[in-house]
Amino acid sequence: MSTIKESLIEQMQDYFGDDTKRINHALAVTGHAEKLLESEGGDYPVVIAAAVLHDIGMHEAEKKYSSTSGKYQEIEGPPIARKMLIELGFESSQMDEICEIIAHHHSPGKITTANFEILYDADWLVNVRDEFDIKSKDKLKAIIERVFLTASGKALARKIYL
Ligand SMILES: [Fe+2]
Repeated sequence: MSTIKESLIEQMQDYFGDDTKRINHALAVTGHAEKLLESEGGDYPVVIAAAVLHDIGMHEAEKKYSSTSGKYQEIEGPPIARKMLIELGFESSQMDEICEIIAHHHSPGKITTANFEILYDADWLVNVRDEFDIKSKDKLKAIIERVFLTASGKALARKIYL
């Protein structure tokens, strides 16, 4: 019997196929989310499913709109995630919450639960490197304060990047 995390990862890997960049991103975000769950609380299956599947709309967004912009992923991700979650036997309230998180993972402020904030920060822990000039430590300090939502997210970001 595989764990729920392993099953989610299997589904995500099958879906992304040979797109190792997306697979590795999802795995890295999931690793950070697990770490943040320890200090921020949050609901393990909801956060882990949201982390593994948060960018699952990427390929559909590329196909339909020739864009990987956050807003298209937010539209395309939830229905794909829901199908997988149904197969894995998630409860409908959990599915709703996971899909809500995926639907807003580039739009902070609307959902303010620990589950959302953990996923949001875990994604940023990976993305800071690609989105900002990480050579300027002073700038980076300010960015970390501004971008991250949880105390542990900020602390982990400082540890990784400063
Ligand atoms: Fe992401």
